[in-house]
Amino acid sequence: MKHHLFLILPQIVLINCAFNKLENDKCSSDFTGNNGVCVEAKNCPAFKTNRNQLTICSFKNRIPIICCPEVKNEFKTRISAEKCNEFNKLPESTQNIRIVRQIFFNKGDKLLHPTFVGGQRTEIDEFLHMSAIGWQQNDGTIDWKCGGSLISEKFVLSAAHCSSSARKRPDIIRVGARDLNDLQSQKNLQDFAIINIFIHPEYKSSVNYHDIALFELNRNAVLNANFKPACLYQSNDDTVIPIEAMGYGQTSFAGLKSDHLLKGFLTIVNNTECNKSYDDDKSHLPQGITDMQICAWDPAGNRDTCQGDSGGPLQTTKFTPNSIRYYEIIGVTSFGKFCAAGIPGVYVRVYSYLDWIESIVWPSS
Ligand SMILES: *[C@@H]1O[C@H](CO)[C@@H](O)[C@H](O)[C@H]1NC(C)=O
Ligand SMILES: *[C@@H]1O[C@H](CO)[C@@H](O)[C@H](O)[C@H]1NC(C)=O
Repeated sequence: MKHHLFLILPQIVLINCAFNKLENDKCSSDFTGNNGVCVEAKNCPAFKTNRNQLTICSFKNRIPIICCPEVKNEFKTRISAEKCNEFNKLPESTQNIRIVRQIFFNKGDKLLHPTFVGGQRTEIDEFLHMSAIGWQQNDGTIDWKCGGSLISEKFVLSAAHCSSSARKRPDIIRVGARDLNDLQSQKNLQDFAIINIFIHPEYKSSVNYHDIALFELNRNAVLNANFKPACLYQSNDDTVIPIEAMGYGQTSFAGLKSDHLLKGFLTIVNNTECNKSYDDDKSHLPQGITDMQICAWDPAGNRDTCQGDSGGPLQTTKFTPNSIRYYEIIGVTSFGKFCAAGIPGVYVRVYSYLDWIESIVWPSS
């Protein structure tokens, strides 16, 4: 009997495992005979009901990637996920992209609300989707008050509360800057005027919900393999790592500004736990922290997003099967308390707004 078992086991393994397909590869499902896509088991609806019949594509850190059968109308790739694949196939360019309009190129560009508390300086060209949103002042200088993320040729994702400051709309978006003051050393930068701001229809400035907006640029950004939009995180799974936030905001509450883009790794705090930190703010959060929000903090209490980081990304780093690095935006920096005071910062959960974002950014799809 024992001998028999040993003979059979390897066969089962051979039948069920292809082992050569990576995440997001197309595959064919022996179970349904239909085409499928290789995904982590937990992201496959059919896994719950037909666990044993599904083919394994490969393993990623011992987590099985399975061939998830495509169910018509049910398992459809979102346009934002398709666009992500397109962005990751953009060709390399030997030319740097530097389109800084002279009118905005003032030596005294001011940083009144700049940075990330306890953050680490970023490298040049490390986060070219990172955007700064600025208000031009009467004296010609620019007051950079918010962050954002380039998510297509034409749109920057940011917070709804960044759509006005002292009743004025912002005028300019600078994409790809690591340093907002020293433009000389940066070869990849693009400045845009804003032609339209789409604020989420349910946003009300009196409460801290649906704090999400899309800023339409006056022309298409010039893209290449490096200068590419960030992708949108396609799941509401909280257990993602690594997760990092960044901004040009203040380095401490009411403290010094930073001209540099700063980043820092954070940990997700679940909503139940996060809700407890904000249960004393019923006027801004009548329903507490909802599942359309996501919270993150540095357990050591050193790092947090702060004023001026609003609208910037909470993101994770990913790699395509060909080892091309890209970023997925999980959250939009919305609000917090005192910056790094041991209370998690609150971000708009991008996954909850994918339909709305897609309807504006890729309307014909
Ligand atoms: C939320 O996080 C807390 C603290 O880490 C933990 O005790 C609790 O079990 C978590 N709740 C859920 C629903 O995951
Ligand atoms: C969050 O806390 C509020 C009270 O402030 C409560 O009404 C609500 O049910 C809580 N929500 C969650 C998800 O725990």
